[in-house]
Amino acid sequence: MSHIRAFIFDLDGVITDTAEYHYLAWKRLADEEGLPFSRQDNDALRGVSRRESLLRLLKGRTLPEADMQAWMERKNAYYLDYLQGIGPDDVLHGVRDFLARCRAYNLRLGIGSASKNARLVVERLGLIEAFDVIGDGYSVVHSKPAPDLFIWVAGALRVPVQEAVVFEDAPAGVDAALAAGCWCVGLGTAQVQHAHLCYPSLAEVNLPELLSAVQAQLSRAG
Ligand code: BG6
Ligand code: MG
Repeated sequence: MSHIRAFIFDLDGVITDTAEYHYLAWKRLADEEGLPFSRQDNDALRGVSRRESLLRLLKGRTLPEADMQAWMERKNAYYLDYLQGIGPDDVLHGVRDFLARCRAYNLRLGIGSASKNARLVVERLGLIEAFDVIGDGYSVVHSKPAPDLFIWVAGALRVPVQEAVVFEDAPAGVDAALAAGCWCVGLGTAQVQHAHLCYPSLAEVNLPELLSAVQAQLSRAG
């Protein structure tokens, strides 16, 4: 019989909160280029790739490819500066304890992040040993909301997608998890209500309750 064998975690907004640094880096670029960019605009960039973020920031304006590349590199250099300041204290409340409890249930654990900096962030957080697989912005061509990344991570964990639960804080990530055929837990309030289950954060997830709720649905599905 099918049972849940793996948990796949988005990184930004689930394990740590780097959205503010992405915002500050894009804001610096936008200010230098005279483009309007607000915190509200930044909310629409959650979970989407660097290129898609730039396209949204440009709001329909077009740029030659060489400039697109140069702007993305500049934004990333600003973002990397901010990452210098992060460390183990930046793991979100309750996350270490949650990951330790997952191990007690023999679950395989993976990261599924759109970020090309995901491995660096996980290393700086001191969590590299906590995950069996890290899927990042280099793993697949089509990023969230396409299903590819979560299918890739589940495959690398050697678990069928329908036996994996994805934890996501962004609408694009929930869309990707559902399209992949995974179970999805939405975290926070950023329009994730279309996930199978929602909690305010990982710290509030009751692990036995979550596993039995998903298991009941799996058994019903045969
Ligand atoms: C996601 C973030 O995890 O990674 C997005 O939520 C970001 O805001 C995306 O744009 C890509 O990140 P990076 O580090 O490759 O520019
Ligand atoms: Mg996220």
